[in-house]
Amino acid sequence: MNTSEIPFVDLVTVHRELREDLRSVFDVALDTAGFVGGPMVQNFEREFAQFCESRFCVGMANGTDALRLALMAAGVSTGSTVVTVPMTFIATTEAISQTGAWPDFVDVDPRTYTMDPDKLRVFLEDDCTRDPSTGRPVSKRTGQPVTAVVPVHLYGQMADMDPILEVAAQYDLIVIEDACQAHGAEYFSRGENRWRRAGSMGRAAAFSFYPGKNLGACGEAGAITTNDELVARRCQMLRDHGQSRKYIHDVEGYNARLDALQAGFLRVKLRHLPRWNEQRRERARAYDRLFEDLRGTVVAPHVPPQARPVYHLYVVQVPDRDRLQRDLASAGIGTGIHYPVPLHLAKPYEALGYRRGAFPISEEATSHILSLPMFPGLSSEQQARVVMSVAEATTGLHRDEAPQLTHRGQP
Ligand SMILES: Cc1ncc(COP(=O)(O)O)c(C=O)c1O
Repeated sequence: MNTSEIPFVDLVTVHRELREDLRSVFDVALDTAGFVGGPMVQNFEREFAQFCESRFCVGMANGTDALRLALMAAGVSTGSTVVTVPMTFIATTEAISQTGAWPDFVDVDPRTYTMDPDKLRVFLEDDCTRDPSTGRPVSKRTGQPVTAVVPVHLYGQMADMDPILEVAAQYDLIVIEDACQAHGAEYFSRGENRWRRAGSMGRAAAFSFYPGKNLGACGEAGAITTNDELVARRCQMLRDHGQSRKYIHDVEGYNARLDALQAGFLRVKLRHLPRWNEQRRERARAYDRLFEDLRGTVVAPHVPPQARPVYHLYVVQVPDRDRLQRDLASAGIGTGIHYPVPLHLAKPYEALGYRRGAFPISEEATSHILSLPMFPGLSSEQQARVVMSVAEATTGLHRDEAPQLTHRGQP
């Protein structure tokens, strides 16, 4: 029996395989002293825009900066409210707050964990008043007009964008996609009768290239995609001290540029991303099949017909999550919780005054979700061991009592 550890994510093997190509990026940077801006950044931006089926890409220092500057470039500022979901990484709400706006929340769909468009509609109708002069919805909680919505494409699956865009259009709200976990994810737009890529549907979108992402840098990096030329130009200015030309500053900006070396590394890795995403999908299908025998105990990810996810994470729900996580750790299997605290109950947002019970779907999910090992190089043998260990821990079955789990549903 193989008892070697199964990591939650394996970032070593992939970089070992690409070592020569990554080293030559470093050589070019040394030979040309091209460390900031220049062709490495521009070429990556062109190729990533193409990959996202978006007109423009603006490289950024990280995903948080990308989201903050996308919001600012699209017009979000102090004295407004931006609506998002409690079930996301705190960077989503940090980016909102750091524009000067207030974050506010609507709950997620219980099966996909992404923004529930009906809850967004109900929020705008029932939890807002109308500004008498502009007609804009004003959040009763923050007292500030709602100007934007940030749907989060969580775990690599896009939010239900058609109805979100429809509600947003009705209330004249800016939509910025948080696509930090969704490089290459797709969504079938019923309105347009075609598949759309993450990063191409909102006014702009933010991506993170943190090393563990489907497309990860060898350090910190991020990007904005947009079809709006003005937003792209503002993002270029904001990331570079508000400069329109060297030392001519139109606004006060930031230093949020994409590092040239990281852009070079990302270009190398972007070539492999479609294959890696396909491998993640195969691994997800294998998990789905293996977990069929545990239906009733383990809730596998739900993929609605309009979604083609890229499985940044493979997240299940189980009754006793903390015990399962401990049991898997004892069996040498790495897992994660994304995320343990819904943001309306997180300390930095106490001022909003939300109590437990405000967003029951997010609260329930956050206490039962567990992210299992998921990466392109995960082997079918490793997956069978993960599922066997989950079966042992959740049903009390022993390895020899459930032999079919090691044979069924392998990719
Ligand atoms: C949903 C979400 N939003 C925003 C971010 C922020 O990205 P970064 O860590 O690159 O700043 C992340 C990254 O972890 C994320 O997962």
